[in-house]
Amino acid sequence: MRIIVSRLIQHSSSPFSRLHNVGLLRNVRLLSTDSNKVDEPFKVEEAETVQVPPPPSEKLLVLGGNGFVGSHVCREALSHGLSVCSLSRSGRSSIKEPWADKVVWHQGSLLVPDSLKDALNDVTAVVSCVGGFGSNSHMYKINGTANINAIRAAADQGVKRFVYISAADFGVANYLLQGYYEGKKAAEAELLSKFTYGGVILRPGFIHGTRQVGSMKIPLGIIGSPLEMVLQHAKPLNRLPLIGALFTPPVSASAVAKVAVRAATDPVFPPGIVDVYGILRYSDQK
Ligand SMILES: NC(=O)c1ccc[n+]([C@@H]2O[C@H](COP(=O)([O-])OP(=O)(O)OC[C@H]3O[C@@H](n4cnc5c(N)ncnc54)[C@H](OP(=O)(O)O)[C@@H]3O)[C@@H](O)[C@H]2O)c1
Repeated sequence: MRIIVSRLIQHSSSPFSRLHNVGLLRNVRLLSTDSNKVDEPFKVEEAETVQVPPPPSEKLLVLGGNGFVGSHVCREALSHGLSVCSLSRSGRSSIKEPWADKVVWHQGSLLVPDSLKDALNDVTAVVSCVGGFGSNSHMYKINGTANINAIRAAADQGVKRFVYISAADFGVANYLLQGYYEGKKAAEAELLSKFTYGGVILRPGFIHGTRQVGSMKIPLGIIGSPLEMVLQHAKPLNRLPLIGALFTPPVSASAVAKVAVRAATDPVFPPGIVDVYGILRYSDQK
């Protein structure tokens, strides 16, 4: 949409136009310290319509925008009229839905220096959905090092807000997935130090929704939604040592995406950590 404003143009008045204006404005007397003097009224002779380009819209970079959570984030951001780009190793990947045509897909790895240079051009906010499983050292690299590289590059580029999809603390399970959690914690610490006022960490537990694997759609909501309904009211049980993690309610990928996009674009969204209950609460808000 273009914004139209009218610009007022002042001219030095000719004798003719002065007479004309006196006729028109004879009832307009302006205040003056000299009682005999009528101040020269401000004259508008002509209004020219000029077109001002719209203010630059927000540009969101979704790291891992072709993944399960990332694709929900891209869709959510597009529905708010944001301009969206994504970076991942495979670029666009297998997604063949109309929304995907509106995303600018960059191919690159966060573990390769310089990969982010082009993708970060004019970007105002970043949401990182990059993470994964594997050997301990791989998990540390992908959840930690890769995201730390992205956080540093975004900070250097002057990006205002950065949202990192981390994960809920699962107590004992953290030990079994050491590289995963240590990587997440290292990236969280980097984000809080580099984006003191614009860094938001989301810590979901299990995320449900429709996960696309190749051309197949897997409806994880069949398990996740009923559990979410029951467990969101079991917060006290979540504090029990050892079994607490079992009672962390799952959240939907669309709820995570909604909160991530809001956190990335709302300048008054509080920086810091948002746990599962915070995600459920924020995603319920209009
Ligand atoms: N799913 C859950 O239940 C759950 C629960 C809690 C937290 N989380 C966290 O939420 C985030 C998103 O999870 P998800 O389930 O959406 O995972 P996902 O589907 O596996 O997506 C991971 C994304 O990261 C990209 N990626 C991996 N390595 C990369 C690299 N070196 N450089 C650039 N991009 C890279 C992948 O694309 P390419 O392979 O094309 O590079 C993919 O787009 C992760 O951090 C995960 O730990 C997920």
